[in-house]
Amino acid sequence: MQLGVDLKHVRIGAAERHGYAPDLRRALARLDSDERAGFLRVLHRGAVLREIRSFAAATRRSWSDVVQLGIGGSSLGGHALCRALLPSGPDPRVGPRFHFPDNVDPESFGALLERLDPRRTLVHVVSKSGATLETVAQLHALLEAFGGRRLAPLRERMVVTTGRDGTLREFAESEGIPILLAPDDVPGRYSVFTASGLLVPALCGVPVGRVVAGARRMEARCRAARGVGPAGQLAALHYLHDAKYDRPIHVELIYADALQLLGEWFRQLWAESLGKRGRGPTPITARGTTDQHSQVQLYAEGPDDKLYPVLRVDRLRRRLRVGRGAPAALAGRDLGAVFDAEARGTAAALRSCGRPLIEIRLPRITPQGIGELLLMQQLQTALAGDLYGVDPFTQPGVEAGKRAALRILERESAAGRARRGSSRTSP
Ligand code: PA5
Repeated sequence: MQLGVDLKHVRIGAAERHGYAPDLRRALARLDSDERAGFLRVLHRGAVLREIRSFAAATRRSWSDVVQLGIGGSSLGGHALCRALLPSGPDPRVGPRFHFPDNVDPESFGALLERLDPRRTLVHVVSKSGATLETVAQLHALLEAFGGRRLAPLRERMVVTTGRDGTLREFAESEGIPILLAPDDVPGRYSVFTASGLLVPALCGVPVGRVVAGARRMEARCRAARGVGPAGQLAALHYLHDAKYDRPIHVELIYADALQLLGEWFRQLWAESLGKRGRGPTPITARGTTDQHSQVQLYAEGPDDKLYPVLRVDRLRRRLRVGRGAPAALAGRDLGAVFDAEARGTAAALRSCGRPLIEIRLPRITPQGIGELLLMQQLQTALAGDLYGVDPFTQPGVEAGKRAALRILERESAAGRARRGSSRTSP
């Protein structure tokens, strides 16, 4: 059973959609020769998976908690995988609890640090560049909170994933901390199938080999199809809706709480890859059924400027019976049936208002199925970059913000030093 994509309700005819097949084939060929498109090649590098698995197997039972320091592409993939595949949290007999702070808010990060036992916490620091301000700040705030380096050598309770050079690598080397490679040819937001996305899930008991196997299966499916399979079809549809039919926004309606973070992961991938040169579709995520009572009025009767991919799961992992005391339509039913009826009802209501819908269905939430979904969305994004004529592997706007934040901090620190200096010399 494989992931299904239903295009019956996209409101764009098959002839127009399929017209993009030759462009998509050429785009795929260009990706294959693009040295930054390693997200496909990495699926076939056995050494990457072996390294992750062996590190996880050797260390998994030693820790009560594992915290991944990193931001954006260096945090979201692993977090989304853990949430999707460990919905009740990790089994303490198998692996530690996971934490992905993904921010530098002192309230939430400070509260997390207070809860962690430094002697029983493994820290995974991820930064491909090794220089991202937030990650460097998180690392040194954690070291400070954990009592500097006095507890135990860092090499025994830290692991670093980073590029071939940079200050994080130098720091890890000087401390003897184990280092896993962030491959040169895989940009951060495409790194879910590297140690950045797989190490913590592997530590917590996710069978990451099966996730990668699902991704390979989706890759093969897309390569075998004339229009690059579901990834190609989705790229063309999103592009057409935006560029030709004035629907520059897509709202991914997700009917599975365990998959909400995958929506955020895709939102980042799509926005950071395609928002360039004054163009770029806007991704939004919505939680079914909750956002039916918050956003669907706008979606149904507001401006017709959106495309609606609806992500559903045929069979959720848990069943929960609604008691006999409930009204007749509900009594004795599985709560999943209520959830599903809500999803179908909302889709029907949107269709009846003429809104275009794409249905993405996972038969079940399994490691393979999640691997398929992740790879499909990565390939879809990279192919869409080609259709839009933008480079999906850079993020100049983010880099500019990073540099500006550093300049502000440097200026303020210098001013602080100068003030302290002058107060010491004044009589
Ligand atoms: O996708 C990207 O490139 C970004 O989201 C990065 O992952 C993020 O900015 C973190 O960068 P780094 O891994 O260099 O710390």
